[in-house]
Amino acid sequence: MPIHTSPKSWVIETKNTGYAVGLNEAGLLTHRYWRARLPFAADYPAPVNPLERSSFDMPQHYTPEEYPGYSALRYFDPALKITFADGTRDLVLRYVDFSTSASPYPELALHLKDEVYPLRVTLHYRVHEEYDLIARWVTLENLGDEPVLIERAFSAKWTLPHGDDYFFSHMFGRHNNEYNMKREVLTPGLKTIESRRLTTSHHHTPWFAIDRNATEDSGEVWFGTFAWSGNWKITAEVTEFASTRISVGLNDWDFAWKLNPAETFVTPESISGYVKDGFGAASRLMHDYVRNILLPHKNQLHKVLYNSWEATLFDVDEISQSKLAEVAAGMGIELFVMDDGWFHNRNLDNAGLGDWFPDKAKFPNGLGGLIKNVNALGMDFGLWVEPEMVNPDSDLYRAHPDWVIHFPSRARTEARRQLILNLGRTDVQEYIISVLTTILSENNIQFIKWDMNRNVSEPGWRDAPGDARELWVRYVQGLYHVWGTLRERFPNVIWQSCSGGGGRADFGILHFADQIWISDNTEATARLSIQEGFSQFLPANTMEAWVTDWGRNVVPLEFRFHVSMCGSLGVGGNLNEWDQADRELAAHCIRLYKEIRPIIQFGDQYRLISPQKSMFSAVLYVSKDQSEAVLFVFRVYLSDPTNLPMIHLRGLNPTALYEVDGYSGPRSGASWMEAGLRVELKNLQSKILKIKQVE
Ligand code: GLA
Repeated sequence: MPIHTSPKSWVIETKNTGYAVGLNEAGLLTHRYWRARLPFAADYPAPVNPLERSSFDMPQHYTPEEYPGYSALRYFDPALKITFADGTRDLVLRYVDFSTSASPYPELALHLKDEVYPLRVTLHYRVHEEYDLIARWVTLENLGDEPVLIERAFSAKWTLPHGDDYFFSHMFGRHNNEYNMKREVLTPGLKTIESRRLTTSHHHTPWFAIDRNATEDSGEVWFGTFAWSGNWKITAEVTEFASTRISVGLNDWDFAWKLNPAETFVTPESISGYVKDGFGAASRLMHDYVRNILLPHKNQLHKVLYNSWEATLFDVDEISQSKLAEVAAGMGIELFVMDDGWFHNRNLDNAGLGDWFPDKAKFPNGLGGLIKNVNALGMDFGLWVEPEMVNPDSDLYRAHPDWVIHFPSRARTEARRQLILNLGRTDVQEYIISVLTTILSENNIQFIKWDMNRNVSEPGWRDAPGDARELWVRYVQGLYHVWGTLRERFPNVIWQSCSGGGGRADFGILHFADQIWISDNTEATARLSIQEGFSQFLPANTMEAWVTDWGRNVVPLEFRFHVSMCGSLGVGGNLNEWDQADRELAAHCIRLYKEIRPIIQFGDQYRLISPQKSMFSAVLYVSKDQSEAVLFVFRVYLSDPTNLPMIHLRGLNPTALYEVDGYSGPRSGASWMEAGLRVELKNLQSKILKIKQVE
């Protein structure tokens, strides 16, 4: 058991890290250590016992409390804020006892209670030893007979080793331009990244990394993410006493939760880790965790898919889709996905959402005819849905205008001419479960792309069961309930999470979805950078990437294929316009992809030269046994003459011999890594090099 306990101190150990908390002399639960694992439990530092410095700087203020509630003389960012039924807005948490359990993963639970009020707070720690990750979450239990109002309930506060000289990395973006990495100096005060959009958002990613002077391959990095698909918040705080802390949890903005007597509130998980060897190592731990622990279909290779969206938009029918399917099958595609436009009255984005049955004019015999054709071509069939949404012009909305999120006194603001169904409501959940159950049980569907194409407005809920501001959480709980029920009913279906591209990519949704559609931007040179950002926390097999016609007059088809082959390959161009040469090249790339995809989807990823920093970039995937690797190199645009950089491979066995496609003679792994190689490319050229161990 990697958890050492004693009456007043607890140490959690993973393969390479140690994490320690304990009670100080004042009885406060105090953070002690989070860094490299130490040889003995007694090696971990004792909790600090600060003295009073002045009436303005009382000890609470420089004690690194593990999970501080808002009370007494605390002015830093608290983890928990409560209002009790008598109006008291002050929470004095006292340690009570602890428990441990071993299955399925080792867990430690530290139980705290308010000094006076019957509120129990349990801090949970789940240990993923192999991945050097700890998952933390909190449960709040109302043991009294009056309600308690929760106004903030973070999942964790992570305290860094003492110091105020850290860098904070995070990702920002927008629709069509997700996952831009930013690394900045943390200075005293509070830095916040968050979503207030009801969903995860394109705009900020629930991921962080803290380092001192780390690079891709070296240096200490503390990193983490939040397993939640709704409003979230991550704050990085540097106090006046040089203590650096990261808080992770549900966004408290416009949030409140009425916890009735005998009820429990459970927060989502905040998952974090520590590495000594750079950002790349941090990403690889997360990749392995996602692939081995999180995904519904672990170790299942993803098929090469075709998606009809950019080819036919809303203009789908049995004939046009069957025609595309034939061309797709000829190129080696394994899964044919029909996108938007197939359901009742859906000819544009102004109508139809909510009425999830095939449009009679486009599919007079239902979806069965098309699916039969697709299956006869040897491909699986997949379908697009957007179940959380409704167009005002739909039968569903005409029947249930009160099902959408709204304030009765306000206009309902439309975006893409649609409104959001309130998935907090059980009748809405049941409706979605029932319509999708019908589609999935009546048709041979192996894949669903689940979309969400707008963010919230007028977040009202007239008949809310508790405080109307519970919407933010109940919506996501409802979504998980709906998706979870469907997953149980149809366990073989592969689900993809899409929200106008990468608006819902997080560890929460990956309990249900195996893949993410990471951006509506499919222009290959832009995509290089979006894909790299995504790889900070999610592995290549979860990253669906299509080759489309964006930029086709500028960016060669081969380059576009190579970019998409860095993830789970798909094609989304208008195949009707691809000539014979295009189709042959596509077939060749798809054949090659099928050969190398186990390395890409299941191997270790090394970001060698970043496309976010350079027009010449390289990324490497190495098989887990280090016997094979695939190198992708891209040159976007550099003025000539130019001196292309050396590429230093990573992750090979230094003493084994390897051959690299197109380079003479085997060389040791050490040589390919230290001496490197040069790949000559012209502007808008790319290359894939296969690497094989020969001895
Ligand atoms: C969103 C998705 C696209 C496509 C359209 C269909 O924008 O991200 O891939 O499915 O919706 O309306």
